[in-house]
Order: sequence, then structure tokens, then C-alpha cells
Amino acid sequence: MKNYNTTIIVGAQWGDEGKGKIADILASDADMVVRAQGGNNAGHTLVKEGKTYKLHLIPSGILYPKCTCIIGCGTVIDPKGLLQEMAELEAQGISISNLFVDNRAHITLPYHILQDKLSEQALGKSSIGTTQKGIGPTYSDKIERSGIRMSDFIQPSVFKEKLTNQLTKKNKLLQKIYDAPSLNFEQIFQEYNEYAKVLKPIVVDTTIMIYQAIMQGKNVLFEGAQGTLLDLDIGTYPYVTSSHPTSSGACVGSGIGPTLISNVIGIAKAYTTRVGNGPFATELDDATGKFIQTNGQEYGTTTGRPRRVGWLDTLILKYACRINGCTSLAINKLDTLTGITPLKIATSYNCDGKILDEFVSDISQLQNYTPNYIEIDGWTQDISNCTKFEDLPKQAQNYITTIEKLVNCPISMIGVGPSRQQSFKR
Ligand code: GDP
Ligand code: IMO
Ligand code: MG
Repeated sequence: MKNYNTTIIVGAQWGDEGKGKIADILASDADMVVRAQGGNNAGHTLVKEGKTYKLHLIPSGILYPKCTCIIGCGTVIDPKGLLQEMAELEAQGISISNLFVDNRAHITLPYHILQDKLSEQALGKSSIGTTQKGIGPTYSDKIERSGIRMSDFIQPSVFKEKLTNQLTKKNKLLQKIYDAPSLNFEQIFQEYNEYAKVLKPIVVDTTIMIYQAIMQGKNVLFEGAQGTLLDLDIGTYPYVTSSHPTSSGACVGSGIGPTLISNVIGIAKAYTTRVGNGPFATELDDATGKFIQTNGQEYGTTTGRPRRVGWLDTLILKYACRINGCTSLAINKLDTLTGITPLKIATSYNCDGKILDEFVSDISQLQNYTPNYIEIDGWTQDISNCTKFEDLPKQAQNYITTIEKLVNCPISMIGVGPSRQQSFKR
């Protein structure tokens, strides 16, 4: 099989693994960076020369003027949010002239956002803990085949007709199911039609651009959003997002075949975090958990919510490597664990005396499992300036090689801080 210059970056846990930082580092050699799924529920943090950038829909390659950035056909786009993100980057002196959006991407409209909020409220204690960006309702309309795509959106007469039909249904839903006031057609149409005019010049069939770049031997990076355990099929359903953040999802969501992919890098933290609700076997509700949360500044990039924190779970990493076909792993935030000893790593689950060493995504089972841990000596030295594996204290090296053995996947990158310089290849 031909070897292409293509890499998928995929979250190996529940999101926020530091995909943005790794994408930004790898984008220095990339010709194109593609976002294939999700919407502005994602929050990717990049630190360049001491300046922090928070991206939600725009691929991390945007910081490199020569890199083409694509928002692919599997994404959902809140036009207002996207334009705001574009304006913020321009205000920071970043050119967005290399940004393109696929004409098949679906549009998030105000009723999707409202529906997301109202449905979460109605679920009460069983709520999913969504980012309330309208992601689930936009993908629901897409699956129902009633959604409005970018190609519809940029043609005023088509947008008008589709919005009329959708809003008639949505207003009934808002009134009859949620007892909420209905939304005004003219107001939405006028406002959003203006957004469509601004976006129109960058709306194209990006699948051709991606294919041609790959065929020309260009370096193409696919920047995953969310993480494996948030995948609609593979994750901890229903506490998941509504897209496919796995490597196969990157292919569908950018319109290319799986034989064009050469590398899949799974990104993980040196521990586990989760925002939103749902079972989390290795969660820490104690002082160690608080220490990691504070030391790692574990607060959501998009919502500011505190992230739940726990020990590293190698069942999750093995599952992610298997599902995504990872060719290597990157482990971020090793520095956050400095000062904790011993460190624990979950290697199996216990259920009624039975030992399981494969992850289960059925939450009714998962919530009854208790993890079995191995303990490893920690370290106290500051590792945030280490630039190679050999610079790390012996205990930190041992932590990495132990994970590598348990997961049976090479660890190719290690992160010891949020900036570009604080990651090294191994
Ligand atoms: P993403 O959604 O996967 O791109 O990750 P987020 O940006 O939401 O969250 C990761 C957070 O960890 C961000 O604040 C990053 O700046 C930060 N980060 C990434 N890698 C490292 C690392 O190796 N060490 C530390 N201390 N922070 C990191
Ligand atoms: P990045 O790309 C972490 C979570 C939400 C919630 C669930 C469903 O930054 O890693 P949604 O709004 O998608 O319907 O919410 O998914 N979630 C994320 N958690 N990182 C993300 O993205 C997330 N995007 C969605 O917290 O539990
Ligand atoms: Mg994030």
C-alpha cells in the first residue's frame, strides 16, 4: 500500500487531552490541517510565544500562514460563532485567508442552541452535561435529513425556504414540548443571511482539496475534536457527543478513504479527565484529585466548567488504540503529576470478583466496576524544562515505559507544559 503523508490526531480519552497543542506542533510541517467533525463544542488551546489562543472550530494550523485550514463536511457550524472566532484571530494579527469550509457542513441555528438548553433542563439530574452549543440537535436534524447545509445557507432563496419549514416544526416543538415562546422567522433570517454573505466566498467542496493535497504528497493533518469515549457509537452512550471523534470519523468527515491514512496519533493526558456527566471508574474525589485539578488548571476551554479528574486508566487507552488503530500515542501533562507519590495506574476492573481487562462502554456495567491499580513511585523534581526523555527523572521515565508496556503502543511524544517548546519527540 502506498505511504501518504497523512496523520490523524485523535483524543484517546474524554476530550481535552491537549490535541490542539499537538496539532499546533505538528502543523509546523503540515501543508493542510482539517477538522472533520464536531463544532464549537471543542476548545483547543495553543500557546505560542507566551500568547494563548483558544480555538473552537478553526483548525490549529491557522497560526502558520502557509497552512491551508479546512472545516470539513462532517462538522456542524454555528455561523455566528465561526465569524466571531475569525474576527478574534484577525484582531490578534492572524491571517485567516487560508480558511475554507465544506459546502456539506450543517448549520447550527438559534433553535438548535435553545433546544439543547431546554432538553438538558428537562433531563434534570440525568442531563448529559452538554456544552449547550446546539451540537446534538444540529446532528439530529442532519440524521433526520431535514438539516440545513452550508450549500443551502449561502443561497438566500433556498435558505429562506428551508428555514421556513424547519422553524414551523421547531416552534411547535418549543411551545408544545417545552412550553417555551416561539422564535421569530424574520429576525433569524435577516441576521443569519448576513452571516451567509460573509461566509460564502470560503464555502467550497473541500473533499477535492484534501484529496488533491494527499495525492500531491503534501503533509495533511486531521485534527480530531472531543475524544474516543465521547464517540456516539464507541463512547459511554448516552454521555457522549453526537459525532464520531474516532479515526474512522475523520475519514467520513473529511470525505476521504481510510487507505489514504498513514499515521494515527492518540493523544492522552498522563491522568484522566472528563467534563460533563457519566461514569468515570478512576475518578478521584479526594485531596489528590483536587491537587491534580488545581495544578493542571482543569477547567473547560469552552464552558469554564471544572473538569472531573482521576488516575490514568490503561483499559481506556488500550480501547482507544484498538478502535482508532493508533500507530503511536502522545502523553501530555506529565508535569501535572510532579509531587504525587505513589502514582496509580488502573490495569483492570473488578466486578463481583470477576477481573476484566477490556474497557466496557455499557454504562450500566461500567458504573459497578472498581478499578484495580498498580502503584508507581512519583517524582518531585520540576520537569517542565525537560527537552528529551533522558532529562526526565527515572521515576517519570518508568511511568511512561510502564504505560507503553500496558497499552502496547509506542509513546512518541511527551508533554511537560502547555507551550510548543514543552513537548518533545521520543
Ligand atoms: P484539547 O481540547 O484536546 O485541545 O485540549 P484543551 O486545550 O481543551 O485542554 C488541554 C489543556 O492543557 C490546555 O490548557 C493546554 O494548554 C494544556 N496543556 C497541553 N499540554 C500540556 C502539558 O503537557 N502540560 C501542561 N501543564 N499543560 C498542558
Ligand atoms: P475538545 O475538542 C471535552 C462533552 C460535553 C458533554 C458531551 C456532550 O476540546 O476535546 P455536546 O455539547 O458535544 O453535545 O456535549 O461531550 N464534550 C467535550 N468534553 N472536550 C471536548 O472537546 C468536548 N466536546 C464535547 O462536556 O459531556
Ligand atoms: Mg478542549
